[in-house]
Amino acid sequence: MTTPQFYQLHDSNSTAVKAAIRAELTEGLLKPQAAVSPKYLYDALGSRLFDAITELPEYYPTRTEGTIIAQHLTAIAQQTPKGAALIDLGAGSCEKAARLFEALKPAHYIPIDISVEYLRQTVHCLQREYPQMRMSGVGMDFSSEMLLPAELMAQIKGLPIVVFYPGSSIGNFAPEDARALLSRAHALCKLGGAGSGLLIGVDLVKPSEILEPAYDDALGVTASFNLNMLLNINNLLGSNFAPQDWQHVAFFDKQLSRIEMHLQAKHDVTVTWPGHTREFKRGGDIHTENSYKWTISGFADLLQSAGFSKPTSWTDAKDWFSVHWAST
Ligand code: AVJ
Repeated sequence: MTTPQFYQLHDSNSTAVKAAIRAELTEGLLKPQAAVSPKYLYDALGSRLFDAITELPEYYPTRTEGTIIAQHLTAIAQQTPKGAALIDLGAGSCEKAARLFEALKPAHYIPIDISVEYLRQTVHCLQREYPQMRMSGVGMDFSSEMLLPAELMAQIKGLPIVVFYPGSSIGNFAPEDARALLSRAHALCKLGGAGSGLLIGVDLVKPSEILEPAYDDALGVTASFNLNMLLNINNLLGSNFAPQDWQHVAFFDKQLSRIEMHLQAKHDVTVTWPGHTREFKRGGDIHTENSYKWTISGFADLLQSAGFSKPTSWTDAKDWFSVHWAST
């Protein structure tokens, strides 16, 4: 059996990275409209709570995307190159990519995730299931840059590249930032052989009556997921947030075409951390996530403005979710 390779491009335990994280959190928390990046939702517990969200009856994206991919797997396999380097952005449990293995027959699987330890475990498990496939896990934050280690790029030289970005994670980015990220994905695809491209899952605009419960479920799992960010911030910053002082709020902004998640103070709250303090009035809030919803044509335009060719798009019977293949 092959042993998976592992590259760690950022070390969240280094003093410099920790200081940068504290600076970023402090800046966000001191803004008039306090805001924290949604990446801080995903500590060990947050990642598990997100996995639980994907099984909720109200949260349709994960299962709808799964249905689309299963239903159109043959067509997807016809469009995408065989024997590719499959680069999985935000791989997490690697489960979605594994479902493509048989049809796409990648030569080299490259899962990337910021959550380094989780990725290490899942890549080892997956390697046991697919002993013949080359696997190289990369621990990095691809939201700012998409440069793979030179050693790894040398190994995949000449192979077509399939960048896989499922789950509508692109929805966390405002249109201009999404375009910038897609442009970086396009530049990466350009380094691959003929037929390279991007396979991406994107959530679609739909009535608020369906969107809002998906982000505010009856069991309160999404509320816990959001509130858990406060515990993660306490760990990273040494702050004294008490989750019971806060409540989860989620709504669809039609104009901006995005779900917003906030944590709202139930009464006046003073939060302190080394060197700083912030007062929140009752009803004051911290903006924790945006989840943009696209139309098929709007997203096709975005892909093309990032340098990709006109995509092939698949959707489900209700047009709730979409999967796009766009070659370079
Ligand atoms: C992982 C960003 C795709 O926006 O639907 C789920 C995150 N937040 N429930 C999404 C999320 C609340 C999710 N993404």
